[in-house]
Amino acid sequence: MKDTQIKKLIEAERKRQKRVINLIASENYVSKDVLEALGSELTNKYAEGYPGARYYGGNEVMDKVERLAQERALELFKLSPDEWAVNVQPLSGSPANLAVYLALCPPSRNPDSSFQPARVMGMTLAHGGHLTHGHKVSATGKFWTQVPYGVDEKTEVLDYEKIKEIATREKPAIIVAGYTAYPRIIDFKKFREIADFCGAYLMVDMSHFAGLVAGGVYPSPFEYADVVTTTTHKTLRGPRAAMIFSRRDPPNMIGRAGARELPKKIDKAVFPGLQGGPHLNQIAAVAVALAEAARPEFKKYTKQVVKNAAALAGELARLGWRIVSGGTDTHLLLVDVWMNGKGIGGKEASERLEKAGIIVNKNTIPFDTRSPVDPSGIRLGTPAETTRGKQEKDFTEIAKKINEVLRK
Ligand SMILES: Cc1ncc(COP(=O)(O)O)c(C=O)c1O
Repeated sequence: MKDTQIKKLIEAERKRQKRVINLIASENYVSKDVLEALGSELTNKYAEGYPGARYYGGNEVMDKVERLAQERALELFKLSPDEWAVNVQPLSGSPANLAVYLALCPPSRNPDSSFQPARVMGMTLAHGGHLTHGHKVSATGKFWTQVPYGVDEKTEVLDYEKIKEIATREKPAIIVAGYTAYPRIIDFKKFREIADFCGAYLMVDMSHFAGLVAGGVYPSPFEYADVVTTTTHKTLRGPRAAMIFSRRDPPNMIGRAGARELPKKIDKAVFPGLQGGPHLNQIAAVAVALAEAARPEFKKYTKQVVKNAAALAGELARLGWRIVSGGTDTHLLLVDVWMNGKGIGGKEASERLEKAGIIVNKNTIPFDTRSPVDPSGIRLGTPAETTRGKQEKDFTEIAKKINEVLRK
């Protein structure tokens, strides 16, 4: 590279990544093949539109790239193209979620031309939901009204009876399941029943656990959801991007206006609704990652990710730390480091750990009494370090080191 300033910075970041223990639950290390696709000449091309229907010439290769990514995505999650469609163009997870709301329940205008926002029912950010599940600082909370739900105060897990009660009362247009800081398995069947009961679409945002679904260590949401969104850069170990899967004919939505048009509506919401030209270099890199995730080694990897998280949670609990909800079924865990004043704040915890070479993020815990800028918890995840080959015994050692640093 001739640009020495950027070259130096890339080198510095590469070294930083090598040096630290990375416990950020949403990060991972991609393969050389993924990097190669990202850095390829595919970045030079404009391809507005969809395969076979582009607004620019010269897209015969790009059509093949995008179709291959779509085929691999459906194959990986064992979906028939007769039943499911997939859009691989979203630039990242947030625009993907926004596109779904735009497609399924666009804000309408009142006769006086004021906006009439539809209702999106999503987990509150404070309990582990994502900003794009309708939080007020996100566009999704400005153009839609969030109907929030959370976890039970005692058990810190989803309370499906309460969720049903809220959904029945508030009648949201769409219910979102899938979170950014929730360590437990979601009962998708129960969510389907609730959605049917109140006539809502069920969208699952599997951004965090998509890799675990692909590896068979987390239940698949596809049996129950109308729409599934996912980022591709977390447990799935691909480049930063996202995908939207939608049912061609949602069985529970028959008779509902427009239900049969989901994939078409979603395509329109992505382009031209929200985006211009797709990033085909990124889509090619997604295709590479999808093929990697279909290999037996990836199954082994995801099993190890979950075992490592259990080992980390188990050892931290043994050392006296409170693990939110009592443990984890997944790749992530929330540690209550404040423990009602017996420990330290999440901000201090993450700063101390960073100085010791362990990268985590501070995180609110359900019913947190502290502020989001200095909450009671930290979130830990195992996908990145498992990619580097770490096993349960290594995570037991990491837990000991975390304990040492936090108790100093
Ligand atoms: C559950 C969930 N959905 C959506 C997103 C948004 O993804 P992005 O950061 O790519 O916009 C995230 C990112 O953390 C997430 O955890």
